[in-house]
Amino acid sequence: MPCKRLLPYLKVNLTKNNIITRDVKDFFCSERISQNMAKINVGIVGVGTVGGGVVKALDARIDYFNNSLGLDIRLARIADKVTSRFSQLPVRDAVCTADFNDVLNDDSVNVVVELAGGTGFARTLVLESLKRGKHVVTANKALIAEYGPEIFETADKAGVSLYFEASVGGGMPVIKAIREGLVGNEIISIRTIINGTCNYILTQMATQGLPFADALAAAQENGYAEADPTLDVGGGDSGHKVAILASLVSGGYVPYGAFSVEGITGIAKEDIIFAAELGYVVKLLGVIRKCEAGLDVRVHPAMLPKWHILASVSGVFNAVLLEGNAVGQMLIYGRGAGEMPTASAVVGDIVDAARNIADNCPKRVPMDYYRADKKAALVPIERIESRYYLRFNVSDNPGVLASITSCLGAEGISIASVMQKEGAGEAWVPVIIITHDAKERGVRRAIKDIEKEAFVRAPTQVIRIEE
Ligand code: HSE
Repeated sequence: MPCKRLLPYLKVNLTKNNIITRDVKDFFCSERISQNMAKINVGIVGVGTVGGGVVKALDARIDYFNNSLGLDIRLARIADKVTSRFSQLPVRDAVCTADFNDVLNDDSVNVVVELAGGTGFARTLVLESLKRGKHVVTANKALIAEYGPEIFETADKAGVSLYFEASVGGGMPVIKAIREGLVGNEIISIRTIINGTCNYILTQMATQGLPFADALAAAQENGYAEADPTLDVGGGDSGHKVAILASLVSGGYVPYGAFSVEGITGIAKEDIIFAAELGYVVKLLGVIRKCEAGLDVRVHPAMLPKWHILASVSGVFNAVLLEGNAVGQMLIYGRGAGEMPTASAVVGDIVDAARNIADNCPKRVPMDYYRADKKAALVPIERIESRYYLRFNVSDNPGVLASITSCLGAEGISIASVMQKEGAGEAWVPVIIITHDAKERGVRRAIKDIEKEAFVRAPTQVIRIEE
């Protein structure tokens, strides 16, 4: 849809409706104020942690939006089953209700903010809102990653937009950076620490010497991990975010489930200690890389050299390291979760929606590549090449090391360094091998062969190394 906004530096057909002014400022304001006093009536569904933050952030900034930015935004309706939440929030004159249908059925509400989460009710709400011609703002990464084509096709048909900045990286405006600020670039790669819970746990393991279970308990005590942390520690949350980023940078749909996702539950305290001795830190990393064979997309624990810029991203912080063909490397760092950081992104989207509605450019930034029939060609993880950290758990007997190195050699895997810790009376010892670049398929075959040997006492730990 063409943008109908009239800019003063474009040729304007003067008609009797034009305002004649001597003040140049009027040029910049009058068009927005006269033509664009489009009322933006926002309806929020879900005022838990993030939704509550959005109400607070809107309350703090809405006068600025309306008085200085020439917008006309009003929080019209709020729906939440837990009605006791309303009295805790600066709802102003918003109509508060337990029934989300009150938001859907209000024809004056033109922007629905979905903060209910999940992919059941939220999917219905988002699709129904779009079908009714309402723009939608959401923080729901699972919804976009799993139902993106259905949602964007519905938005397209209805001529409205879906805004989802908060779905990736909380307060960091990563999506806007990729779609707008960096549009002059081909994004060649992204490496990202995109789950604060996992990063907090791994940081605790490294700095406090805690085993995984204790670090997880500390994350839960501090409110950084859910009571059921499966989605975070299993890698699913990172996987959803990486699926969205991969779709954005590739211009093709990357469905969640189409690439390898590993979490951090298998990372032992010992691995963190050995990594540190070898000059590395362990992070849960999302990798998106364009290569000749296609798009390499994966989420897994990775060892990063201590000098690596992502190695210094600690605690609950997130970071996205992008590489564009024009701009080169760029790091976006910040809080990827939490009440106000996520609210920051949601409110940014509300204002974006308001501006686009006011300027009659509802589909200003198209999403036409998010289509089921336009899938990106992915490189299977078996075909990647990487350096590897391998921890074999073996009996401390003659010939064991020779046997391991012979299996690796047979697969063409070159060893960069070896470390064996003398056992303190244990029946088995860890043998740590760092490889040079090797093919994942060959590494898997070698490990399978090695694990056939009686001297192997526990499964081998494999951590890819990123540099
Ligand atoms: N649970 C996520 C995290 C935030 O720990 O980063 C929401 O995606």
